[in-house]
Amino acid sequence: MTEKNFLSIILAAGKGTRMKSKLPKALHEVGGKPMIQHVLDAAKNAQASKQIVITGFEADMIKAAVGTQAECVFQEEQLGTGHAVKTAKEKISSFTGSTIMVLCCDTPLLTDSLLAKLYEHHISSNAKATILTALAPDPTGYGRIIRDSNDLVSKIVEHKDASPLELKVNEINTGIYCFEKIELLEALDSLTCDNANKEYYLTDVIEMFKNKNLPIVSMISPSFEETLGINSRLQLAEAEKFFNRRKLLSLLDNGVTILDLDSVFISPEAIIGQDTIIHPFTFIEGNTVIGSDCEIGPNTKIDNSVIGNGVYIYFSYLNECKIKNNVKVGPYVQIRPDSVLEDNAKIGNFVEIKNSIIGEDSKVPHLSYIGDTDLGKKVNIGSGTITVNYDGKNKSRTTIKDMAFIGCNCNLIAPVVIEEGAFIGAGSTITKNVPAWSLAVERSNLKCIKDWRKPE
Ligand code: UD1
Ligand code: CA
Repeated sequence: MTEKNFLSIILAAGKGTRMKSKLPKALHEVGGKPMIQHVLDAAKNAQASKQIVITGFEADMIKAAVGTQAECVFQEEQLGTGHAVKTAKEKISSFTGSTIMVLCCDTPLLTDSLLAKLYEHHISSNAKATILTALAPDPTGYGRIIRDSNDLVSKIVEHKDASPLELKVNEINTGIYCFEKIELLEALDSLTCDNANKEYYLTDVIEMFKNKNLPIVSMISPSFEETLGINSRLQLAEAEKFFNRRKLLSLLDNGVTILDLDSVFISPEAIIGQDTIIHPFTFIEGNTVIGSDCEIGPNTKIDNSVIGNGVYIYFSYLNECKIKNNVKVGPYVQIRPDSVLEDNAKIGNFVEIKNSIIGEDSKVPHLSYIGDTDLGKKVNIGSGTITVNYDGKNKSRTTIKDMAFIGCNCNLIAPVVIEEGAFIGAGSTITKNVPAWSLAVERSNLKCIKDWRKPE
């Protein structure tokens, strides 16, 4: 493989008018991160030697998102894609290599392997310009690739400037190219804005190269989807679908069962083990890791959590928590951040767990709030029990040691410790520590009034 040496220039100065948004287009999220981040990642992983981002609309926001990944160059007025590249003229001339790859911030489905192929193709063809093209099912809005009688690219015509015949062409310009820098700089200097948009089009560089007999080649992207350019919210939604589909297909390929490809959404970063089954209406987000032989869903959302093997979670929401092996969660459970469920724990039926550790083989099966609590092993929490962790000012912890049994509808007023094997009678409000293997009941005596009738 060729040693790669190219400068990546990502155009991101445009407002993205068609998005109808306060946010610059580059920062709209899709597939779990801002569009421009996908492009930066693809170029970096394709081994770009250096990256430049052209900023304009909301430049500071873009700059903050880009950070140290690329150098930003400010395009004061957005006079077109050609003008945008020209803004980076000095950086282009001072680049030590000779190849410039131009990318747009609005093609988030791009892969590094496609960019690497484009670069290889450019170098091995000894071309001065290489255009990445694609065959679009509906080419509306895209620049069309116009070929001569020898099937060589002669120019790119923008949709607005195309003749009825040219509009019929379905080979489109993806907006991704490799150029040789000296020829590119020369062409940029002579660009004009004589077109329907009154813009300096980068695409006009191609016709200039052609007129100078400089070798231009093209490479057709194996899939149109990968180079989908996002100009509208509809295209953003379509891209989200493609991202998700790509992820789901790779999971299926790795031995995960997904029952409904249309209602399951899984982030690109998520990892899921073999023989795990994902039921419909399940959302797995962020850096979630799920082991093997689990059953997840239906109607479940898991954010940034780590789940072991053989876990069963259904009709529940889990956020930033750690679930060990063979745990059962659901239905209607919320597990909030910093909670750990140890092996074989069981949580179900309208239970909320927050910042708590639920020990091995322990159960919180019905209608409880467990917050800021350390639960030992084999603890049973009766239905309706609450750990009272907040006095209006401070949060305090509850400790319930191994094998303790908490009856139904108890209030454990933190800070409080229930020692090993202690038994708490149903309905008790516990305000003091309870010693090991003792029974604690806090209940007023039952009063029965004989022969009582409701007054008339
Ligand atoms: C562009 C191409 C078109 C191609 C399509 C692929 C031109 C003239 N047209 O059209 O052939 O089919 O991409 O998606 O190049 N930008 C700047 N500064 C500017 C103008 C634009 O940085 O002055 C940036 C935008 O932020 C965007 C990119 O350039 O990231 C492309 O601009 P956009 O307006 O989306 O171009 P298209 O009309 O999609
Ligand atoms: Ca575009």
